[in-house]
Amino acid sequence: MPEMTRRSVLTLGAALGLAGVAIPKAAWSWSPAGSVLGTGSGVDPQWVWDDDLDRIMASVISSGQTAAINDAILPWVNNWQPVPTGLPPELAGFLQGSTQLPSWADRTKLRRAADFNRRKDTYLFMIYGIGGGIMSTVIPREARSVYHSKGGADMQDRAAKTFSFGYDLSDINAFETTGEFMVTSNKTRMVHSAVRHLLPQSPHWQQSGHDEQIPISNHDILVTFHSTGTFAHKKLKEWRVPMSTADQDAFLHSWQVALHFLGVRDEYIPATWDAAHAQAAQILTPKLAWTPEGQELAETLLGLTAQVDLGVTRGFLNEFVRYQLGNEIGDWLGLPRDYVSAATIRVGWPSYIAFREGLLPLMPANFYLFDQLLRGIAMAFLNRGASGTTTPITIPDMNRPT
Ligand code: HEM
Repeated sequence: MPEMTRRSVLTLGAALGLAGVAIPKAAWSWSPAGSVLGTGSGVDPQWVWDDDLDRIMASVISSGQTAAINDAILPWVNNWQPVPTGLPPELAGFLQGSTQLPSWADRTKLRRAADFNRRKDTYLFMIYGIGGGIMSTVIPREARSVYHSKGGADMQDRAAKTFSFGYDLSDINAFETTGEFMVTSNKTRMVHSAVRHLLPQSPHWQQSGHDEQIPISNHDILVTFHSTGTFAHKKLKEWRVPMSTADQDAFLHSWQVALHFLGVRDEYIPATWDAAHAQAAQILTPKLAWTPEGQELAETLLGLTAQVDLGVTRGFLNEFVRYQLGNEIGDWLGLPRDYVSAATIRVGWPSYIAFREGLLPLMPANFYLFDQLLRGIAMAFLNRGASGTTTPITIPDMNRPT
């Protein structure tokens, strides 16, 4: 795949709805004045990881304690539950601090975000599940690390666990004592630390052409935020989904707190959507590229959804990917065209939104197709069948073997 030129960055940015902001410079130039902290060192987050937790996780994994930690964290689910007993003392001590809301968190906004997530859940589900999910496969660092880590061998399980994160973040009680997000995000943070220790030991990852010695830097996590949260904000606006300013602020706020819980330093967390979009233009759009790992992951993910036979064809799914991400990414992934589905989506999706939002009196003809697609994604990833519960997140003890 050729290097991204200034022109192709612009074309791609336009397709993703990220155009109109600064053309990226090679070096990190996003100002910490635009962050929730309002100030900062200006150090490139490319060189920032999660030092304290990374050291602890490397030590407990090296001393063979992963299975015991997974046993200890299994019953730890709700925010009200104390950090579990049975963890190595240093890890328990770390988690005591990392499960507290930051001082700048605003509970009123978080409650509003939960309500917003409930009201807009259908669109968010489509954006995260299809747009964000497939975009992750053309973010080379993410695609390579997911593919070569343990979960890469079972993408249905991996995707189900990732959905747990989105599900818990979107839950009406996400940040309340009865919610689960503060626990889920800390488990995720531990998994990322484990990956930073394990992945560099993978010969396959080492040979993959990766461009960083330690994966999942603060920079990389911000990129993923932009491929999900920032992308969702842009698409909701593009699709003219009604949202008040207070709703948009609240939605951003839940992501700000989520990033904090994932170990991103406050000086990198955008304070406003304008600051977030400016950061995305600098670090997301120019990073998108095809990799063989991403190609395989995209095929697997799309195949899993298409397997759930609810009358939604693979052609329809391919075109919904193109509708959200544009033809350049669709072509990279070699998604065959289905022009009938493309036309149905182009006309039907705006009508679907308008009807759901009460802006259209009659149900559009193809309404059911979008509902079936939604159900298909939910069935493929949300709870793997009939258990009705989300898939617990566990600390990996190895990389993908092959
Ligand atoms: C694991 C979410 C950023 C790579 C996970 C898990 C969640 C998650 C929920 C646990 C599920 C599992 O164990 O499979 C997120 C969120 C992110 C983010 C919300 C940012 C907003 C990243 C980035 C990378 C990455 C930037 C790589 C560049 C991985 C890998 C695993 C993982 C390799 C472990 C897979 C395994 O072997 O089990 N992530 N992630 N993540 N994440 Fe992330």
